[in-house]
Amino acid sequence: MSSSIEGRRIVLGVTGGIAAYKAIEVCRRLVDAGAHVIPVMTDDATRFVGEVTFSALASEPVQKSLWSEADPIPHTHLGKTADLILVAPATARFLGCYAAGISDGLLTATVLATRAPVIVCPAMHTEMWEHAAVQENLATLARRGVIVVPPAEGRLAGGDAGLGRLADPAEIVAAAVAVLEGRGYQVPSGRLRDFDGRRVLVSAGGTREPIDPVRFISNRSSGKQGHALARAAADRGADVILVTTTNRPAPPGAKVVRVDTAASMEEAMLEHAANADVVIMAAAVADFRPKVPAEAKLSKADGLPDILLEPTPDILRELGRRRPVGQVLVGFAAETGDAVERAAAKLTAKGVDLMVANDVSAAGVGFDHDTNAVTILGADGGRRQVELSSKRQVADAVLDSVAGLLD
Ligand code: C5P
Repeated sequence: MSSSIEGRRIVLGVTGGIAAYKAIEVCRRLVDAGAHVIPVMTDDATRFVGEVTFSALASEPVQKSLWSEADPIPHTHLGKTADLILVAPATARFLGCYAAGISDGLLTATVLATRAPVIVCPAMHTEMWEHAAVQENLATLARRGVIVVPPAEGRLAGGDAGLGRLADPAEIVAAAVAVLEGRGYQVPSGRLRDFDGRRVLVSAGGTREPIDPVRFISNRSSGKQGHALARAAADRGADVILVTTTNRPAPPGAKVVRVDTAASMEEAMLEHAANADVVIMAAAVADFRPKVPAEAKLSKADGLPDILLEPTPDILRELGRRRPVGQVLVGFAAETGDAVERAAAKLTAKGVDLMVANDVSAAGVGFDHDTNAVTILGADGGRRQVELSSKRQVADAVLDSVAGLLD
Protein backbone atom coordinates (compact mmCIF):
# COMPACT_ATOMS: atom_id res chain seq x y z
CA MET A 1 0.00 0.00 0.00
CA SER A 2 2.79 2.41 0.88
CA SER A 3 4.03 2.86 -2.67
CA SER A 4 0.66 3.61 -4.28
CA ILE A 5 0.01 6.78 -2.25
CA GLU A 6 3.65 7.72 -1.65
CA GLY A 7 4.01 11.49 -1.87
CA ARG A 8 0.34 12.09 -2.75
CA ARG A 9 -1.02 15.26 -1.18
CA ILE A 10 -4.05 14.61 1.00
CA VAL A 11 -5.87 17.45 2.72
CA LEU A 12 -7.35 15.86 5.85
CA GLY A 13 -10.32 17.94 6.98
CA VAL A 14 -11.39 17.44 10.58
CA THR A 15 -14.70 18.91 11.73
CA GLY A 16 -16.20 19.21 15.19
CA GLY A 17 -17.54 15.88 16.34
CA ILE A 18 -16.43 13.51 19.06
CA ALA A 19 -15.10 11.18 16.34
CA ALA A 20 -12.38 13.78 15.66
CA TYR A 21 -10.14 11.72 17.90
CA LYS A 22 -10.33 8.88 15.36
CA ALA A 23 -9.02 11.22 12.65
CA ILE A 24 -5.70 11.04 14.50
CA GLU A 25 -5.53 7.36 13.59
CA VAL A 26 -6.52 8.11 9.99
CA CYS A 27 -3.76 10.74 9.81
CA ARG A 28 -1.15 8.40 11.26
CA ARG A 29 -2.03 5.58 8.87
CA LEU A 30 -1.91 7.86 5.82
CA VAL A 31 1.47 9.26 6.86
CA ASP A 32 2.77 5.74 7.53
CA ALA A 33 1.68 4.79 4.00
CA GLY A 34 3.83 7.61 2.63
CA ALA A 35 1.17 10.24 1.91
CA HIS A 36 1.80 13.94 2.43
CA VAL A 37 -0.98 14.88 4.84
CA ILE A 38 -2.07 18.47 5.36
CA PRO A 39 -4.49 18.77 8.28
CA VAL A 40 -7.23 21.40 8.17
CA MET A 41 -9.30 21.70 11.32
CA THR A 42 -12.43 23.68 12.09
CA ASP A 43 -12.54 25.63 15.35
CA ASP A 44 -15.08 23.16 16.72
CA ALA A 45 -12.75 20.24 15.91
CA THR A 46 -10.09 21.78 18.13
CA ARG A 47 -12.52 21.54 21.05
CA PHE A 48 -12.33 17.76 20.73
CA VAL A 49 -8.65 17.25 19.90
CA GLY A 50 -5.72 19.59 20.17
CA GLU A 51 -4.23 20.89 16.95
CA VAL A 52 -0.76 20.12 18.30
CA THR A 53 -1.56 16.40 18.04
CA PHE A 54 -2.27 16.70 14.33
CA SER A 55 0.64 19.05 13.70
CA ALA A 56 2.95 16.52 15.33
CA LEU A 57 1.65 13.54 13.35
CA ALA A 58 0.91 15.08 9.94
CA SER A 59 3.32 16.26 7.26
CA GLU A 60 2.57 19.95 7.85
CA PRO A 61 1.22 22.03 10.74
CA VAL A 62 -2.54 22.33 11.11
CA GLN A 63 -4.27 25.09 9.11
CA LYS A 64 -7.43 26.55 10.53
CA SER A 65 -8.11 29.96 9.12
CA LEU A 66 -8.86 31.68 5.84
CA TRP A 67 -7.12 34.72 7.27
CA SER A 68 -3.57 33.48 7.52
CA GLU A 69 -0.94 36.17 7.28
CA ALA A 70 1.49 33.88 5.51
CA ASP A 71 -0.94 33.06 2.71
CA PRO A 72 -3.81 35.37 1.78
CA ILE A 73 -5.63 32.66 -0.21
CA PRO A 74 -4.88 29.36 1.56
CA HIS A 75 -8.03 27.60 0.33
CA THR A 76 -7.16 27.95 -3.36
CA HIS A 77 -3.60 26.74 -2.76
CA LEU A 78 -4.87 23.77 -0.80
CA GLY A 79 -7.59 23.03 -3.34
CA LYS A 80 -5.29 23.28 -6.35
CA THR A 81 -2.41 21.23 -5.02
CA ALA A 82 -4.41 18.45 -3.34
CA ASP A 83 -4.61 15.00 -4.92
CA LEU A 84 -7.44 14.17 -2.54
CA ILE A 85 -9.50 15.90 0.12
CA LEU A 86 -10.68 13.62 2.89
CA VAL A 87 -13.07 14.96 5.53
CA ALA A 88 -13.29 12.73 8.62
CA PRO A 89 -15.38 13.18 10.61
CA ALA A 90 -17.83 15.22 8.57
CA THR A 91 -20.54 16.80 10.73
CA ALA A 92 -24.12 17.51 9.63
CA ARG A 93 -23.21 21.20 9.61
CA PHE A 94 -20.22 20.67 7.33
CA LEU A 95 -22.28 18.53 4.92
CA GLY A 96 -25.03 21.17 4.89
CA CYS A 97 -22.60 23.98 4.08
CA TYR A 98 -20.85 21.92 1.41
CA ALA A 99 -24.12 20.87 -0.27
CA ALA A 100 -25.37 24.45 -0.20
CA GLY A 101 -22.06 25.84 -1.50
CA ILE A 102 -21.53 27.94 1.62
CA SER A 103 -17.90 28.69 2.26
CA ASP A 104 -17.81 29.89 5.85
CA GLY A 105 -14.32 28.76 6.80
CA LEU A 106 -11.08 27.33 5.45
CA LEU A 107 -12.33 23.75 5.02
CA THR A 108 -15.66 24.59 3.35
CA ALA A 109 -13.81 27.05 1.08
CA THR A 110 -11.20 24.41 0.20
CA VAL A 111 -13.71 21.73 -0.84
CA LEU A 112 -15.38 24.30 -3.11
CA ALA A 113 -12.05 25.47 -4.53
CA THR A 114 -10.83 22.09 -5.75
CA ARG A 115 -11.10 19.73 -8.69
CA ALA A 116 -9.53 16.90 -6.68
CA PRO A 117 -11.76 14.03 -5.55
CA VAL A 118 -13.42 14.63 -2.19
CA ILE A 119 -14.31 11.90 0.31
CA VAL A 120 -16.60 12.71 3.22
CA CYS A 121 -16.98 10.42 6.23
CA PRO A 122 -20.06 11.49 8.16
CA ALA A 123 -20.36 10.83 11.88
CA MET A 124 -23.27 11.90 14.04
CA HIS A 125 -26.10 10.61 16.22
CA THR A 126 -28.58 8.26 14.53
CA GLU A 127 -31.42 10.81 14.63
CA MET A 128 -29.26 13.37 12.84
CA TRP A 129 -27.94 10.82 10.35
CA GLU A 130 -31.47 9.72 9.46
CA HIS A 131 -32.83 13.27 9.21
CA ALA A 132 -34.12 14.07 5.73
CA ALA A 133 -32.00 17.24 5.60
CA VAL A 134 -28.78 15.30 6.14
CA GLN A 135 -29.76 12.54 3.71
CA GLU A 136 -30.79 15.03 1.04
CA ASN A 137 -27.53 16.95 1.44
CA LEU A 138 -25.61 13.70 1.08
CA ALA A 139 -27.62 12.69 -1.99
CA THR A 140 -26.85 16.09 -3.52
CA LEU A 141 -23.14 15.71 -2.80
CA ALA A 142 -23.09 12.11 -4.10
CA ARG A 143 -24.80 13.23 -7.31
CA ARG A 144 -22.02 15.78 -7.78
CA GLY A 145 -19.39 13.09 -7.47
CA VAL A 146 -18.46 13.43 -3.80
CA ILE A 147 -17.56 10.04 -2.38
CA VAL A 148 -19.37 9.13 0.83
CA VAL A 149 -17.91 6.62 3.28
CA PRO A 150 -21.05 6.03 5.32
CA PRO A 151 -21.07 5.63 9.07
CA ALA A 152 -21.27 2.30 10.82
CA GLU A 153 -23.40 0.98 13.67
CA GLY A 154 -22.00 1.01 17.15
CA ARG A 155 -21.48 3.05 20.29
CA LEU A 156 -22.12 6.76 19.98
CA ALA A 157 -21.37 9.66 22.30
CA GLY A 158 -23.39 9.86 25.52
CA GLY A 159 -23.75 6.09 25.91
CA ASP A 160 -26.13 5.71 22.95
CA ALA A 161 -25.72 3.07 20.26
CA GLY A 162 -26.89 3.01 16.65
CA LEU A 163 -26.03 3.97 13.11
CA GLY A 164 -23.89 7.08 12.85
CA ARG A 165 -20.51 6.11 14.23
CA LEU A 166 -17.55 7.15 12.06
CA ALA A 167 -16.44 4.37 9.71
CA ASP A 168 -13.42 2.44 10.85
CA PRO A 169 -10.13 4.32 10.22
CA ALA A 170 -8.85 1.30 8.24
CA GLU A 171 -11.87 1.52 5.95
CA ILE A 172 -11.44 5.27 5.52
CA VAL A 173 -7.79 4.83 4.59
CA ALA A 174 -8.68 1.98 2.20
CA ALA A 175 -11.24 4.27 0.53
CA ALA A 176 -8.59 7.02 0.18
CA VAL A 177 -6.13 4.57 -1.37
CA ALA A 178 -8.78 3.17 -3.74
CA VAL A 179 -9.71 6.65 -4.93
CA LEU A 180 -6.09 7.74 -5.36
CA GLU A 181 -5.40 4.59 -7.34
CA GLY A 182 -8.39 5.39 -9.58
CA ARG A 183 -10.27 2.26 -8.54
CA GLY A 184 -13.19 4.09 -6.97
CA TYR A 185 -14.81 3.27 -3.66
CA GLN A 186 -17.55 0.68 -3.33
CA VAL A 187 -19.95 1.47 -0.50
CA PRO A 188 -20.31 -1.60 1.73
CA SER A 189 -23.82 -2.98 1.26
CA GLY A 190 -26.48 -1.47 3.45
CA ARG A 191 -24.48 1.52 4.60
CA LEU A 192 -25.87 4.24 2.37
CA ARG A 193 -29.47 5.25 3.18
CA ASP A 194 -30.14 7.34 0.09
CA PHE A 195 -33.49 5.62 -0.62
CA ASP A 196 -34.93 6.27 2.83
CA GLY A 197 -38.73 6.35 2.58
CA ARG A 198 -38.73 5.79 -1.20
CA ARG A 199 -41.20 3.22 -2.52
CA VAL A 200 -39.40 0.94 -4.93
CA LEU A 201 -41.21 -1.70 -6.99
CA VAL A 202 -39.07 -4.43 -8.61
CA SER A 203 -40.04 -7.35 -10.84
CA ALA A 204 -37.84 -10.44 -11.04
CA GLY A 205 -37.62 -13.80 -12.78
CA GLY A 206 -38.93 -15.34 -15.97
CA THR A 207 -42.67 -15.68 -16.47
CA ARG A 208 -44.20 -19.08 -17.19
CA GLU A 209 -46.89 -19.29 -19.82
CA PRO A 210 -48.90 -22.52 -19.56
CA ILE A 211 -49.21 -24.88 -22.52
CA ASP A 212 -51.22 -27.36 -20.48
CA PRO A 213 -51.48 -28.06 -16.71
CA VAL A 214 -47.88 -29.43 -16.57
CA ARG A 215 -45.96 -27.63 -19.31
CA PHE A 216 -45.08 -24.02 -19.89
CA ILE A 217 -43.06 -21.64 -22.10
CA SER A 218 -40.42 -19.77 -20.14
CA ASN A 219 -36.81 -18.55 -20.35
CA ARG A 220 -33.51 -18.88 -18.54
CA SER A 221 -33.99 -15.95 -16.17
CA SER A 222 -33.03 -16.88 -12.59
CA GLY A 223 -34.41 -13.77 -10.90
CA LYS A 224 -31.02 -13.16 -9.24
CA GLN A 225 -30.56 -9.64 -10.64
CA GLY A 226 -34.10 -8.57 -9.66
CA HIS A 227 -33.70 -9.96 -6.15
CA ALA A 228 -30.29 -8.25 -5.82
CA LEU A 229 -31.96 -4.98 -6.82
CA ALA A 230 -34.69 -5.46 -4.23
CA ARG A 231 -32.12 -6.21 -1.54
CA ALA A 232 -29.90 -3.27 -2.46
CA ALA A 233 -32.89 -0.90 -2.44
CA ALA A 234 -34.01 -2.22 0.96
CA ASP A 235 -30.48 -1.89 2.33
CA ARG A 236 -30.43 1.68 1.12
CA GLY A 237 -33.61 2.49 3.04
CA ALA A 238 -36.38 1.92 0.48
CA ASP A 239 -39.80 0.39 1.12
CA VAL A 240 -39.63 -2.45 -1.36
CA ILE A 241 -42.30 -4.45 -3.15
CA LEU A 242 -40.86 -7.39 -5.06
CA VAL A 243 -43.03 -9.04 -7.72
CA THR A 244 -41.26 -12.29 -8.48
CA THR A 245 -41.75 -15.61 -10.24
CA THR A 246 -39.06 -17.31 -8.12
CA ASN A 247 -38.84 -18.71 -4.60
CA ARG A 248 -35.55 -16.98 -3.91
CA PRO A 249 -35.22 -15.34 -0.51
CA ALA A 250 -36.49 -11.78 -0.42
CA PRO A 251 -34.91 -8.95 1.54
CA PRO A 252 -36.20 -8.73 5.12
CA GLY A 253 -39.03 -6.24 5.36
CA ALA A 254 -39.87 -6.33 1.64
CA LYS A 255 -43.41 -7.11 0.57
CA VAL A 256 -43.27 -10.08 -1.80
CA VAL A 257 -45.90 -10.81 -4.44
CA ARG A 258 -45.43 -14.21 -6.07
CA VAL A 259 -46.68 -14.42 -9.65
CA ASP A 260 -46.18 -16.81 -12.54
CA THR A 261 -47.59 -15.62 -15.88
CA ALA A 262 -47.09 -12.34 -17.73
CA ALA A 263 -50.76 -11.62 -17.06
CA SER A 264 -50.42 -12.06 -13.28
CA MET A 265 -47.19 -10.05 -13.28
CA GLU A 266 -48.90 -7.27 -15.23
CA GLU A 267 -51.79 -7.14 -12.77
CA ALA A 268 -49.44 -6.94 -9.76
CA MET A 269 -47.13 -4.40 -11.36
CA LEU A 270 -49.90 -2.05 -12.50
CA GLU A 271 -51.55 -2.22 -9.09
CA HIS A 272 -48.41 -1.36 -7.12
CA ALA A 273 -46.80 1.00 -9.63
CA ALA A 274 -49.48 3.61 -9.03
CA ASN A 275 -47.87 4.44 -5.66
CA ALA A 276 -44.21 3.78 -6.42
CA ASP A 277 -41.41 6.34 -6.69
CA VAL A 278 -39.26 3.90 -8.65
CA VAL A 279 -40.29 0.94 -10.83
CA ILE A 280 -37.67 -1.49 -12.09
CA MET A 281 -38.71 -4.18 -14.59
CA ALA A 282 -35.87 -6.66 -14.18
CA ALA A 283 -38.14 -9.62 -15.00
CA ALA A 284 -37.78 -11.54 -18.23
CA VAL A 285 -41.35 -11.55 -19.45
CA ALA A 286 -42.09 -14.24 -22.03
CA ASP A 287 -42.90 -12.55 -25.32
CA PHE A 288 -45.39 -15.18 -26.47
CA ARG A 289 -47.94 -17.42 -24.77
CA PRO A 290 -50.27 -20.16 -25.94
CA LYS A 291 -53.51 -18.47 -26.85
CA VAL A 292 -55.61 -21.17 -25.24
CA PRO A 293 -53.75 -23.42 -22.78
CA ALA A 294 -55.03 -27.00 -22.90
CA GLU A 295 -57.22 -27.90 -19.93
CA ALA A 296 -55.88 -31.46 -19.76
CA LYS A 297 -52.32 -32.67 -20.21
CA LEU A 298 -51.46 -33.03 -23.88
CA SER A 299 -50.69 -36.59 -24.79
CA LYS A 300 -47.98 -37.86 -27.15
CA ALA A 301 -50.52 -40.34 -28.42
CA ASP A 302 -52.48 -37.45 -29.95
CA GLY A 303 -49.50 -36.49 -32.14
CA LEU A 304 -47.72 -33.14 -32.32
CA PRO A 305 -49.84 -30.45 -30.66
CA ASP A 306 -50.89 -27.45 -32.70
CA ILE A 307 -50.07 -24.61 -30.28
CA LEU A 308 -51.33 -21.23 -31.38
CA LEU A 309 -49.28 -18.41 -29.83
CA GLU A 310 -50.21 -14.80 -29.08
CA PRO A 311 -48.05 -11.93 -27.76
CA THR A 312 -48.03 -11.26 -24.03
CA PRO A 313 -48.84 -7.74 -22.80
CA ASP A 314 -45.79 -5.45 -22.81
CA ILE A 315 -45.86 -4.56 -19.11
CA LEU A 316 -43.04 -2.05 -19.28
CA ARG A 317 -44.62 -0.15 -22.15
CA GLU A 318 -47.90 0.00 -20.23
CA LEU A 319 -46.06 1.19 -17.10
CA GLY A 320 -44.45 3.87 -19.27
CA ARG A 321 -47.88 5.00 -20.51
CA ARG A 322 -49.44 5.16 -17.07
CA ARG A 323 -46.59 6.38 -14.95
CA PRO A 324 -47.26 9.21 -12.52
CA VAL A 325 -45.25 12.43 -12.72
CA GLY A 326 -41.87 12.10 -11.02
CA GLN A 327 -41.75 8.30 -11.05
CA VAL A 328 -38.47 6.83 -12.27
CA LEU A 329 -38.98 3.87 -14.61
CA VAL A 330 -36.22 1.40 -15.42
CA GLY A 331 -36.18 -1.46 -17.93
CA PHE A 332 -33.69 -4.21 -18.69
CA ALA A 333 -32.75 -5.38 -22.15
CA ALA A 334 -31.09 -8.78 -22.39
CA GLU A 335 -29.66 -9.13 -25.88
CA THR A 336 -27.32 -11.43 -27.75
CA GLY A 337 -25.36 -8.86 -29.74
CA ASP A 338 -25.67 -5.09 -30.44
CA ALA A 339 -26.98 -4.89 -26.87
CA VAL A 340 -26.45 -1.17 -26.43
CA GLU A 341 -28.00 -0.12 -29.74
CA ARG A 342 -31.01 -2.39 -29.31
CA ALA A 343 -31.48 -1.22 -25.73
CA ALA A 344 -31.32 2.43 -26.85
CA ALA A 345 -34.17 1.79 -29.29
CA LYS A 346 -36.23 0.10 -26.55
CA LEU A 347 -35.57 2.97 -24.14
CA THR A 348 -37.40 5.33 -26.49
CA ALA A 349 -40.09 2.88 -27.57
CA LYS A 350 -41.05 1.98 -24.01
CA GLY A 351 -40.79 5.48 -22.54
CA VAL A 352 -38.39 4.67 -19.70
CA ASP A 353 -35.80 6.82 -17.92
CA LEU A 354 -33.10 4.17 -17.80
CA MET A 355 -32.53 1.01 -19.81
CA VAL A 356 -29.98 -1.49 -18.52
CA ALA A 357 -28.42 -3.36 -21.44
CA ASN A 358 -26.64 -6.65 -21.06
CA ASP A 359 -25.22 -8.94 -23.70
CA VAL A 360 -26.22 -12.33 -22.32
CA SER A 361 -24.03 -14.14 -24.85
CA ALA A 362 -20.86 -12.81 -23.11
CA ALA A 363 -19.08 -14.98 -20.53
CA GLY A 364 -20.35 -14.59 -16.96
CA VAL A 365 -23.13 -12.23 -17.98
CA GLY A 366 -26.86 -12.41 -17.41
CA PHE A 367 -29.07 -15.43 -16.90
CA ASP A 368 -28.34 -17.61 -13.88
CA HIS A 369 -24.84 -16.23 -13.30
CA ASP A 370 -23.88 -14.54 -10.05
CA THR A 371 -22.14 -11.86 -12.09
CA ASN A 372 -23.27 -9.40 -14.71
CA ALA A 373 -21.84 -6.68 -16.96
CA VAL A 374 -24.15 -3.93 -18.17
CA THR A 375 -24.42 -0.55 -19.79
CA ILE A 376 -26.90 1.79 -18.14
CA LEU A 377 -28.48 4.05 -20.76
CA GLY A 378 -30.26 7.25 -19.76
CA ALA A 379 -33.09 8.98 -21.62
CA ASP A 380 -30.81 12.05 -21.49
CA GLY A 381 -28.26 10.19 -23.65
CA GLY A 382 -25.97 9.35 -20.70
CA ARG A 383 -24.20 5.98 -20.74
CA ARG A 384 -22.52 4.25 -17.83
CA GLN A 385 -20.66 1.01 -18.27
CA VAL A 386 -20.42 -1.48 -15.40
CA GLU A 387 -17.71 -4.06 -16.03
CA LEU A 388 -18.17 -7.70 -14.95
CA SER A 389 -19.09 -7.56 -11.26
CA SER A 390 -21.48 -9.16 -8.79
CA LYS A 391 -25.21 -8.72 -9.35
CA ARG A 392 -25.29 -6.77 -6.09
CA GLN A 393 -22.70 -4.33 -7.44
CA VAL A 394 -24.69 -3.98 -10.67
CA ALA A 395 -27.81 -3.39 -8.55
CA ASP A 396 -26.05 -0.62 -6.62
CA ALA A 397 -24.82 0.97 -9.85
CA VAL A 398 -28.39 0.98 -11.24
CA LEU A 399 -29.67 2.49 -7.99
CA ASP A 400 -26.93 5.14 -8.12
CA SER A 401 -28.26 6.17 -11.54
CA VAL A 402 -31.85 6.11 -10.25
CA ALA A 403 -30.85 8.23 -7.23
CA GLY A 404 -29.53 10.86 -9.62
CA LEU A 405 -33.00 11.12 -11.21
CA LEU A 406 -35.10 11.29 -8.03
CA ASP A 407 -36.13 14.91 -7.45
O1 C5P B 1 -38.86 -5.98 -25.52
P1 C5P B 1 -37.95 -6.67 -24.53
O2 C5P B 1 -38.51 -7.94 -24.00
O3 C5P B 1 -36.56 -6.87 -24.99
O4 C5P B 1 -37.83 -5.59 -23.37
C1 C5P B 1 -37.20 -5.86 -22.18
C2 C5P B 1 -37.81 -5.04 -21.06
O5 C5P B 1 -39.23 -4.98 -21.21
C3 C5P B 1 -37.57 -5.65 -19.71
O6 C5P B 1 -37.49 -4.63 -18.74
C4 C5P B 1 -38.82 -6.52 -19.50
O7 C5P B 1 -39.08 -6.69 -18.13
C5 C5P B 1 -39.88 -5.68 -20.19
N1 C5P B 1 -40.95 -6.47 -20.82
C6 C5P B 1 -42.25 -6.34 -20.36
N2 C5P B 1 -43.25 -7.05 -20.95
C7 C5P B 1 -43.02 -7.85 -21.99
C8 C5P B 1 -41.70 -7.99 -22.48
C9 C5P B 1 -40.70 -7.29 -21.87
O8 C5P B 1 -42.47 -5.60 -19.40
N3 C5P B 1 -44.01 -8.53 -22.53
